Amino acid sequence: MKIVVHGGAGKIPIEDQPDRKAVIDEAAEVGLAEDAPLEAVLAAIEVLEDDPLFNAGYGGNLQLDGEVRLDAAVMKDDLSAGGVINVEQVKHPTAVARKVMEDSPHVLLQCEGATEFADQFGMTTTEDLKSSKASERWEEISAEVHGLPYAEKLAKLAEMIEGHDTVGAVAWDGENMAAGTSTGGLRYQMFGRVGDSPIIGSGVYCNEYAAVSTTGMGEAIIRVNLARELVYHVERGESPQDGAEKSIERLKASTNSQAGVIAIDRQGRVGSAYNTRDMQYSVKET
Ligand code: GLY
Repeated sequence: MKIVVHGGAGKIPIEDQPDRKAVIDEAAEVGLAEDAPLEAVLAAIEVLEDDPLFNAGYGGNLQLDGEVRLDAAVMKDDLSAGGVINVEQVKHPTAVARKVMEDSPHVLLQCEGATEFADQFGMTTTEDLKSSKASERWEEISAEVHGLPYAEKLAKLAEMIEGHDTVGAVAWDGENMAAGTSTGGLRYQMFGRVGDSPIIGSGVYCNEYAAVSTTGMGEAIIRVNLARELVYHVERGESPQDGAEKSIERLKASTNSQAGVIAIDRQGRVGSAYNTRDMQYSVKET
């Protein structure tokens, strides 16, 4: 088994970097112990969803209305895929995304529909998913924004919106590949906003050539279908590393935005690239 795990691209506080890297390494080790790529991806991401240092699962960003709503998606190299958008009261949205893939007739479920689906499979929790850090950050901006007329609120929001620290993993067992991505979305995003992470081809993609997970500014990633873009390069015979670099260059050139990618191909070759200040990731192999 070979696995690549990322903890998101962005400006990671320097003081948090050693702790975060240790968790990402641990997540990769946990994934490596599994015997199939999808299980490896899920197990690794679950470690990150449990840790409030990361914007996924417990500790996910609070939206403008102060609620935590999560996005996640998974995909296998046979093109089976599943995702959830703005699901609530779920600590492990990637596991729900897998359930959507395997036990529903759909690829994506959103909002109340996704939460109801998770609940039916006993995957919701009564635990408060707001970490103290995420709540403190929200309190800071809440006073500035709430009470403003709607148009002014949107203008203010455009200045403040941030948070690129989505998590993800890709794995290869010598034969098959899988990819997964999980996020609390952008900090202070509007209720109803759909990011890139659960969108097949944007936040995640996997076919018989390569598996990809992306992180960064969702509004840009969606417009260039960043994950699919990287896989196109591999399909044309380029290495995952060249594909990663070219897809990030394309995103930068066409949107002037920021993102990061990790990839693994059917030969187990790995690629990664980012144009943010930081992106922490771990590569492990048995
Ligand atoms: N890449 C995470 C988001 O924009 O929602």
